[in-house]
Amino acid sequence: MKKGKLISFEGIEGVGKTTTINSIKKYLESYGVNVYSTREPGGTKCGESLRNILLNNKTIISPEAELLLLFAIRKQHIDEIIKDKLSLGTWVLCDRYIDASIAYQGYGKKVSLKKIKILIENFTDNITPDLTIFFDLPYSLSKKRFPKNKKKDRFENLNNKFFNDVYDGYVSIANNNKKRIKRVDANCSKEDVFSQITSIIDTKFKHDLIL
Ligand code: TYD
Repeated sequence: MKKGKLISFEGIEGVGKTTTINSIKKYLESYGVNVYSTREPGGTKCGESLRNILLNNKTIISPEAELLLLFAIRKQHIDEIIKDKLSLGTWVLCDRYIDASIAYQGYGKKVSLKKIKILIENFTDNITPDLTIFFDLPYSLSKKRFPKNKKKDRFENLNNKFFNDVYDGYVSIANNNKKRIKRVDANCSKEDVFSQITSIIDTKFKHDLIL
C-alpha cells in the first residue's frame, strides 16, 4: 500500500531542476521525512544502461520505439524502486516522469497522445505523482543557460521547433492538470525557485509535514 509521496519535477532542458531537487530533498528531510531522489530515464541498473543507449545520438531510434524504451525504463523503475520506497513511507523525488513522455514524445515528436495515454494507464501501476513541479522557462530563455562546449545527447541535438513544441506541451499539460501540477517561474534565482517550491509543498502537504 502506498504511504509515501511521489513528487515529480518537469520542464525543458536547462531550467535548473537537478540542483533544486537536491535542496528540496534536504528541506523535506528537515521535517524528518525519509526522502529518496531518483531520475528518469534511469533510476535502476537496467534503466541506467538503457538510458545510455537512448541518449546516444548515434543510435537510430524511431519516435515510437523511443517511447517504448522510455516506458521499459519507467516500468523497471516503478517495479524495482518506486513502489517499494512508497510502501515504506519514503517520499520519492523524481527528476522527470510521465509528463516528460507526453511533452517530449507526444508534443515534441508527435507520437499519438492516445498511445501514450494507453501506456500510462497500463504500465505505471496507477502511480501518479501526488505533486508535479513544472519549472516554467520558455526555450528562448533556457537555451541561454546551455553549457557551450558540452557534447550534445540525442535530445539536446534537436532544433528550436522541437523544444518550443515540448515547452508548449508542458504548458498545456499543466493547464489541464491544475490540481496536481504546480507551475513555478524558473526565470529567477535558485533561491527564488526554491522558495516558490517550498511554499507549494508546505501548502499541499500541510497535514503530512509536522515539525
Ligand atoms: P537528462 O540529461 O536527464 O536531461 P535533463 O538533465 O535536462 O533532465 O536527459 C533526459 C532526456 O530525456 C531529456 O532530454 C528529456 C528526455 N526524456 C524524454 O524525452 N521522455 C521522457 O519520458 C523522459 C523521462 C525523458
